[in-house]
Amino acid sequence: MSGDAVIVCKGVGKRYGRKWIVRDIDLEVRAGELLGLIGPGGHGKSVLLRLLAGLATPDEGEVRVRGKNLADIDPFELAELRREYGYLFQNYALFDFMSVADNVAFPLRQAGGVEEPEIARRVKERLEQLGLGEALDRFPSELSGGMKKRVGMARATIGEPAIVLYDDPSAGLDPVTSSKIFRLVRTMHHSQDDVASVVVSHDIDRMKVICDRYVMIFEGKVLFDGPEEAIEGADPMVGKFFFGSLGQSSGAS
Ligand SMILES: Nc1ncnc2c1ncn2[C@@H]1O[C@H](COP(=O)(O)OP(=O)(O)OP(=O)(O)O)[C@@H](O)[C@H]1O
Ligand SMILES: [Mg+2]
Repeated sequence: MSGDAVIVCKGVGKRYGRKWIVRDIDLEVRAGELLGLIGPGGHGKSVLLRLLAGLATPDEGEVRVRGKNLADIDPFELAELRREYGYLFQNYALFDFMSVADNVAFPLRQAGGVEEPEIARRVKERLEQLGLGEALDRFPSELSGGMKKRVGMARATIGEPAIVLYDDPSAGLDPVTSSKIFRLVRTMHHSQDDVASVVVSHDIDRMKVICDRYVMIFEGKVLFDGPEEAIEGADPMVGKFFFGSLGQSSGAS
C-alpha cells in the first residue's frame, strides 16, 4: 500500500563536468511503497539515489523530502533528516578503522537514546540474521566483498529507518545469500507502517517478488514509471530489460 509522497523530485538534473548524468527527473517515492530502480549500468541509478538522500546536490530542479526542499534547509536540519534514512552504498562505504559491530552500531549511537547493552543485542541479532554472527569483532579489511555488503545491509537497517535506499544489495552475492538479502529488504519494509524503500538492482527476478513499482533510468532519464503490468504498453526497451537479459552492460542489445 502506498500513501503520501515522502520524496519528490521535480526536473532534477545533475552533471559532472559538462556531462549531464541525469536530467529532467520527475519522481515520487511514496510512504509504504517499495520502489525498484532499474536500468543498464552507468545510466545514472546511483547518482539518482544519492540525490534522493541529499548526498549530492542537483544542478537543476529540486528534491523535496516531506515537503522540504533539500537545497533550502540548513545543515543541522539536513543532518536531522538524514537520520531518517538508511543507505546501503554500492561500494559498501564501511569505516575501515571500526570493527564490524561498531560499523553496524554507528547509526544507533549517532541517533542516541539506546543503551549500549541494547545496541549490542540488536547488532548481534541483525548480524546473525545475515549469517555474520562470527564476524562481530573483525574489521572490514578482513572480509570478502559479499560479507562487506551484508555488513552494509546491517548498518543501513539497524535503526529501522523510515526511508531506506539500497544500492545493489545482492551484487556479488551467492543465490542463497541474495535471497536472504531480499527477504530482509521486504522484512524491513514491513517492520513499521509507511516505510519508503528504494532498491537499485539488476536482480530483476528477485525484485519482481518484492517491488510495488518500477522506475527505469535510461541515459539519465526516466524511461518508465509504473507497476509490472504497465510494462507491456511501454517503450519496448523496458520490456526487453525487464523480461530479457539486458542486465549488466550499457548499450547491449
Ligand atoms: N562523482 C562523480 N564524478 C564524475 N562522474 C560521475 C560521478 N559519479 C558518477 N559519475 C558518472 O555518472 C554516470 C552514471 O553513474 P552511476 O554510478 O549513477 O551509474 P549506475 O546506473 O549506478 O551504474 P551501475 O548499474 O553500474 O551501478 C557514469 O558515467 C559515471 O561515470
Ligand atoms: Mg550504481
